[in-house]
Amino acid sequence: MPEIVPLEWTGDALRILDQTKLPLEQAVVVARTPMDVVNAIKGMQVRGAPAIGVAGAFAIALAVRAVDSSDLLRMRNYLADIGKQVASARPTAVNLKWAVDRVLKVVGQATSVADLRRLVEREATSIQQEDVAANRRLGALGAELLPPDGTVLTHCNAGALATAGYGTAIGVIRAAWEKSHTLKVIATETRPFLQGARLTAWELSQMGIPTHLVVDSAAGSLIARGEISCVVVGADRIAANGDTANKIGTYTLAVVAHENDVPFYVAAPTSTLDMSIATGKAIPIEERPAEEVLRWGDKTIAPKGVGVRNPAFDVTPARYISAIITEKGVVRPPYEEGLKRVMEG
Ligand code: MRU
Repeated sequence: MPEIVPLEWTGDALRILDQTKLPLEQAVVVARTPMDVVNAIKGMQVRGAPAIGVAGAFAIALAVRAVDSSDLLRMRNYLADIGKQVASARPTAVNLKWAVDRVLKVVGQATSVADLRRLVEREATSIQQEDVAANRRLGALGAELLPPDGTVLTHCNAGALATAGYGTAIGVIRAAWEKSHTLKVIATETRPFLQGARLTAWELSQMGIPTHLVVDSAAGSLIARGEISCVVVGADRIAANGDTANKIGTYTLAVVAHENDVPFYVAAPTSTLDMSIATGKAIPIEERPAEEVLRWGDKTIAPKGVGVRNPAFDVTPARYISAIITEKGVVRPPYEEGLKRVMEG
């Protein structure tokens, strides 16, 4: 199967497969400074919780390379400041802050600037490699939950593009399909950024997995008509009680799935768990620019002057989630206990 490589570290730059151009064009953005990475995250050239975490980690590696100083204390202060700017590029996905904090921790352990350079690059590379391994593992665990010849509905893009590779929700779908080759997928288009139409449909068709694309508003009716065996989505942040932030529209799907007794699964690596917050109420929800809603490609589609709301994520209460699939195990309700166990394990 062809592997999609969303992010590639070259030693002095981060090559980012530009997700704003897919699937029409496979263009690469070359980030040479931390601010190049921040802009690529804000502009969603790289997107998806684990992917922006990996990009954020390499942004710190780029910051280290940009400064020619042997003053360790000065370097640490500078990196702490850059770290704040990188971690706040997008607020909802906890993976970004998690990855930046992890790299800054090794900055604190370095004994010289040369040592610091080596440690930061090594840590960012580990974060990238560990994410692929986690996705493969959770993919295999999640595949056990999927009916061999059913139809899975997924929302947004939680595939290789949204991670360091392989994908979370798409990783589960991919692992299940590899076992039986009879699974089918319904992908929602995911207005306004069209992650489903542009990215998920592209990834699944690259892998030869039979996929139908639907407009977001068709999903509820397909679930109610018994055409969907289960729903599998990714996550941007999971609170200690299992409440899950994910792409806007996820909550609606979860409620409809619950109403129709259709299992609703969340697939995410443990780097997406935020045990510091008790419930989803504390998750910050990003509001994106109005232009994303007002336009379709280059065309304006709404009347001039109309007000716009563009929340990019919503929070699905834990009671609607049948299981959370992590690389350390499948967690079922009650989530407080199970999530604690996988975090400690
Ligand atoms: O705004 P996006 O495209 O970054 O939102 C992405 C999602 O909501 C994904 O489902 C989530 O990050 C999980 S990706 C493995």
